[in-house]
Amino acid sequence: MEEIVGLCKRRGFIFPSSEIYGGYNGFYDYGPLGVELRNNIKQAWWRDMVQRRDNIEGLDSTIIMHPDIWKASGHVDGFSDPMVDCRESKLRYRADQLFFAPVIVAGETIGYVSVVECPEQQEIAEKAAADIKRKAAKQGTLEPIVLKDYTESKPEEYDLVPSPATGKPGSLTAPREFKLMFETKVGPLADESAVAYLRPETAQGIFANYKNIVDTGRVKIPFGIAQIGKAFRNEITPRNFIFRSREFEQMEIEYFISPSADWKTLHREWIDTCIDWLVSIGLPRASITEDIHPEDKLAFYSRATTDLMFQFPHGEQELWGIACRGDYDLKQHQEHSGKSMTIFDEASKEKFVPHVIEPSLGVDRTILAVLTAAYTIDEVPNDKGKVEPRTLLKFSPKIAPVKAAIFPLLKNKPELVERAQALYKKLQRRWNVFYDASGAIGRRYRRQDEIGTPFGITIDFDTIEKDGTVTLRDRDTCEQRRVTEDELIQFLEEQIDG
Ligand code: GAP
Repeated sequence: MEEIVGLCKRRGFIFPSSEIYGGYNGFYDYGPLGVELRNNIKQAWWRDMVQRRDNIEGLDSTIIMHPDIWKASGHVDGFSDPMVDCRESKLRYRADQLFFAPVIVAGETIGYVSVVECPEQQEIAEKAAADIKRKAAKQGTLEPIVLKDYTESKPEEYDLVPSPATGKPGSLTAPREFKLMFETKVGPLADESAVAYLRPETAQGIFANYKNIVDTGRVKIPFGIAQIGKAFRNEITPRNFIFRSREFEQMEIEYFISPSADWKTLHREWIDTCIDWLVSIGLPRASITEDIHPEDKLAFYSRATTDLMFQFPHGEQELWGIACRGDYDLKQHQEHSGKSMTIFDEASKEKFVPHVIEPSLGVDRTILAVLTAAYTIDEVPNDKGKVEPRTLLKFSPKIAPVKAAIFPLLKNKPELVERAQALYKKLQRRWNVFYDASGAIGRRYRRQDEIGTPFGITIDFDTIEKDGTVTLRDRDTCEQRRVTEDELIQFLEEQIDG
């Protein structure tokens, strides 16, 4: 992760927000290459999920909506995380990410250990327990350390569990619910009636506009509404770079189906569609797994949820949630707004409130997944034939921020420069391409490899003096071949837009 974060900063993909003021936890800015990557991912999703499908409509709703929407959806009362404070260090933890266990020697509890969730948590806890036993000079067998998360702690344990910050017991509070929605005030009044929220998901904007879209008469069941947009959550522990941030972007679809439809088959179809899409933007199929939520852990209104998990640098984590939410949201809005959410289905001649399947994907998490999959270090010969390590990003040409780099072999030969500039201007009309004339050609290739530019195009003397062909270099294999300008454009079209 550190290497990816370093590369992102060095090459202008992603910066910590407000960095000149020391940064702002949970917020990130996207630099020149980051914004290209981000836009390409969003455009690919929109094209594949909305424009290339007959029954998905697009939407762009506001970030701040009527506060009653969040009462109806259950977010005002229920959208919170359990948190625990350390009174001494003033640090705050998510209670379900703070693990603890009693240290029991020969049947007697001689202390407690605590650890913040991480892949090595069991090892860390066992080592801490062995230290406690040694310091207490206790004889006998140390019983196995069974970690539980802090939401399962009992009141009599609050004063016994050590704070992970200080290592001492007595400073942790009881778990408390912490509201995740950011509040703001709308209008000139500063009283309670002015309270509004920054949306924590784009989905409710879709439900709130469902009736408008049904009334346009363009849709019939089954159909979906898609939206890309910012969401905000006051996460207690934003971490792992852009994986969990406080301002992020979602790409969500609400897919409305008949209550009598075979929802299990449709759910499966959406899961497969989502996996295929992730593979189409360059994620290896082997790095995506499915986490099926157990029935007893589902929200009362949910019939099934499958998360697509990705092997991030910090472990296997949720990338895309695909939930069957029944008719809960539309029924809630029907009740709270007093507006009917029924639709007449021509095919069955029935009137009903549809059920919904919701594929919900984070843009920023997709960017982190794509960076993780693309980040590679290999070894290739330099200009003098000496093998050296190189860092490259193996982005799919579809989403690569820069599609191709155009190089005149030498910068002091006007005929090469003129020809390279002409090709650059021509390609620039269609794609984001880059022109670079400075430095040895090998160094120029390396600079582009590091930002994931899939193709290098070099104009040399053969281009001018012989047949007009250019050298086309492949980023991943470093293989070079000569192609005509027509062949080049056809090849780029297939690779980038195909
Ligand atoms: N409408 C359903 C919904 O919002 P979610 O599981 O809370 O469900 C959906 O969020 C997706 O949004 C997640 O799978 C993840 O990709 C992204 N996401 C959620 N919280 C995030 C955060 N704090 N930072 C970055 N991405 C986040």
